[in-house]
Amino acid sequence: MEKTKSRRALRMPRVNASADALDRLERTTVMDRPIRGLAKAVRQKIGPGRLRDLLHGVPFGHPLHPPLATASIGCFLATALLDATGADPRAARTVLLAGVAASVPTAAAGITDWSTLHREQQRVGFVHGLTNLAGFGLFASSLVARLAGRAKAGRMLGLAGLCAASAGAYLGGHLAFRQAAGANHAESVAHLVPLGWHDLCALKDLPDGRPVSRRLGYIDLFVLRQGDDVTVLADHCAHLAGPLHQGRITVEDDDACVVCPWHGSVFRLSDGSVVHGPATARQPAFHTRTRRDGTVQVRPAT
Ligand code: FES
Repeated sequence: MEKTKSRRALRMPRVNASADALDRLERTTVMDRPIRGLAKAVRQKIGPGRLRDLLHGVPFGHPLHPPLATASIGCFLATALLDATGADPRAARTVLLAGVAASVPTAAAGITDWSTLHREQQRVGFVHGLTNLAGFGLFASSLVARLAGRAKAGRMLGLAGLCAASAGAYLGGHLAFRQAAGANHAESVAHLVPLGWHDLCALKDLPDGRPVSRRLGYIDLFVLRQGDDVTVLADHCAHLAGPLHQGRITVEDDDACVVCPWHGSVFRLSDGSVVHGPATARQPAFHTRTRRDGTVQVRPAT
C-alpha cells in the first residue's frame, strides 16, 4: 500500500519547475569567471564611502534597489497600458522616458548590492542583470523609434521590453524571497530571545579585548569584554549572516565598531546601528550586567 502511494507521488506533475530551474542555475559554474571579474570591478569602482552606502540603501534602512526597480517597471507597464488604450502618444513617450531614466540608478543600486552577495546568489543575479539589460535596450530602442515617428515599431519594442523585464522581475523575486538577498538576516533574533535578563557566562571566562562567540538558547552572540565592560550583539551579521566575532574592532567617528569579516559592514558596538553597508538593518544589541558572583547577564535592547 505504502509502495503504491510513493509511486503515485513520484508521478505527480512538477508544479514548481521554473523554481527548480533556478535552483539549478544557482549551482551552475559556467559563468563564474565573468561573475568574479565583474563583482571585483564593481567593488573597486564603487569603493567604500557615501556613494556605496547610498546605493546599498544604508540611509533608508533597507536596500534601495527594490523601490527603484518598482518605479522603473511601473513606468514601463504604464507605457504598455497607454499604448493599448490608444492614449496620447506623448503621454506614453513621457512615461517611457521616465522609466528609462529611472533604470540607470536602479541598475547602479542593483549591481552594487550584487557585488557583495554569495556566489549562488550572484549566479542568479547575473542572469537577472543580463535580462534587465536586454529589457533596457528594448525600452531605449522603443523610445528612439517613437521619437523618430515609428510608432508601431516603438510599441512592439516596448512590449518585447516588458517581456524581458518580467523575466528579470521573476529572477529578482527568486533572489529576494528564495535566496534572501537583501533580507535582514538578524531579524529572527528578536523572536528567539525572551525579554528579561538571561545568564550568559562567567566574566572571567571571557578574553579581554578580543571578541568571542557565545551561545544563548538558539542564537549565537558576539561578546566583547573590555575590562569590566561587556558588549553584546547578535553574532550573525544582518547582511548575510557572517560571523561578527571574527571581525575587526575599529573606531568610526569616535565610536567603537565591529567590521564584518565577510563583506565589510560596519556596526556600532553601542547599539548595533549601521555605519557602513552593505548591511542596511541594525544589528540586534543587548544590554549587559555582571552579577556579584561574576555571571554576565544579557537582555535584548528593545
Ligand atoms: S555578511 Fe556581508 S557584511 Fe556581514
